Amino acid sequence: MIQKILCIGAGYVGGPTMAVIAKHCPDVKVTVADINADRVRAWQSGVPPIYEPGLVDVLRVGLDRNLHFTADVEGAIAESDLIFVSVNTPTKTFGQGAGRAADLQHWEKTARSILRHARGRTIVVEKSTLPVRTAEAMDRIFTNGGADKRFEVLSNPEFLAEGTAITDLESPDRVLIGGAETPSGQAAIGELVEIYARWVPRERILTTNVWSSELSKLAANAFLAQRVSSINSVSAICEQTGADVLEVARAIGTDRRIGAQFLRAGVGFGGSCFQKDILNLVYLCEHYGLSEVARYWEAVVAMNQYQKERFVQRMIRAMFNTLAGKRIAVFGFAFKANTGDTRESPAIQVCRELLAERAQVCITDPQALASARHDLADVGDRVSFELDPCTAAAGAHAIAVLTDWSEYQNLDYGRIHAGMERPAFLFDGRNLLDPDELHRIGFNVYSIGRPDRTSL
Ligand code: UDX
Ligand code: UDX
Repeated sequence: MIQKILCIGAGYVGGPTMAVIAKHCPDVKVTVADINADRVRAWQSGVPPIYEPGLVDVLRVGLDRNLHFTADVEGAIAESDLIFVSVNTPTKTFGQGAGRAADLQHWEKTARSILRHARGRTIVVEKSTLPVRTAEAMDRIFTNGGADKRFEVLSNPEFLAEGTAITDLESPDRVLIGGAETPSGQAAIGELVEIYARWVPRERILTTNVWSSELSKLAANAFLAQRVSSINSVSAICEQTGADVLEVARAIGTDRRIGAQFLRAGVGFGGSCFQKDILNLVYLCEHYGLSEVARYWEAVVAMNQYQKERFVQRMIRAMFNTLAGKRIAVFGFAFKANTGDTRESPAIQVCRELLAERAQVCITDPQALASARHDLADVGDRVSFELDPCTAAAGAHAIAVLTDWSEYQNLDYGRIHAGMERPAFLFDGRNLLDPDELHRIGFNVYSIGRPDRTSL
């Protein structure tokens, strides 16, 4: 019976996941350890270092009872029965596989630290998305442990999406647990199943071998990203033909075999997972000589890149082929609504391209301004940051909506339009706003995959 759980990595995955486990397992001591002491202090204070709806309430329940945060990673390892590894595994930026393979240095350091400090029998659970067969590598590291240490490695990928992390964790479509097909592997799977079964119906807890579990995570993200790229490719055809991508998405989404979700055309997908996981899959395919399969998945990323470039090209063309000196208000910098996360956000590339055209960019976002400042730290004073969207738009030639924050639907666009340069442009990169209404107010409106509403 598991009594002490540790998670290494108090990020977007580790923090919320452990808060929910602690909530449902009051008799289990749940510790989250992170090498970043500032992050640890923030979690301990009850004001988490990430923005996630509903997180604060779940966190408080645990902090008052059985949830602990610590920067003493080694000490925490020594006293745990089960250790989730949720450290970051970004795309490699150097050496072999740069730009595609996962950078496993944090992960391997963590595995070695577990090997040194663990005592007795320890179940180690991969939570970070990792290349297929990483569990095997982890196993090999652990075989050097000596007689007094025994390890069982499981794969338990996390499927939560940012912005809905708490509801996803409370009521997951499925929990996936992969483990070795040995008696001790199956026993370890059973112990982790019992943790989740406290609140997840058993029929939603799937168990597989380790490699199926690792590959399922990459494949799930690749499929989701592929849907976004597919509808974005259709949006390009719509813009040329006069079809409306919202109507097309509704028409195809009502086919139950296709389904309605992940058919929102936009300025492109972002986030820490989609691109990274596809590139990881591509690298894996190349490793096994499956070059046709690699090219197939690579095209999903290429389409996403094209969609971001196309958005800026359309802005330039509409605004008389020059943006130099023009003020552009960017509404939203996070990679999606309800998060302050800007990793791989399409806004980063769009803003950099606007700045390359010598535009004056003013960015507004309810949660992501600190990250935006960090992402664009090298740019200097041609970019400014403003919490209030109306102030950001004052004196602007154009608004570009890059994140689907619902608050942007409730602004007084009549007042905003009155304070802008003429002709006033609005580029809706998320199809968030009503183009007819904005056109009536006086905007020249360009949505994704929808007919232009302009008076030029
Ligand atoms: C991470 C991975 O990025 C993702 O691939 C995986 O699917 C889940 O875990 P996320 O939680 O979003 O996702 O990452 P991040 O918010 O960067 O958190 C990772 C944390 O690990 C950071 O707080 C970092 O300080 C910590 N860390 C990193 C360690 O504690 N030890 C290390 O050696 C490295
Ligand atoms: C994703 C997966 O959904 C989740 O299961 C996995 O654990 C991590 O990766 P996340 O990146 O947090 O989650 O958000 P998601 O809602 O999947 O959105 C990813 C990107 O796709 C965002 O930039 C979003 O704006 C974009 N998107 C999504 C679209 O452009 N259109 C859509 O229809 C859906």
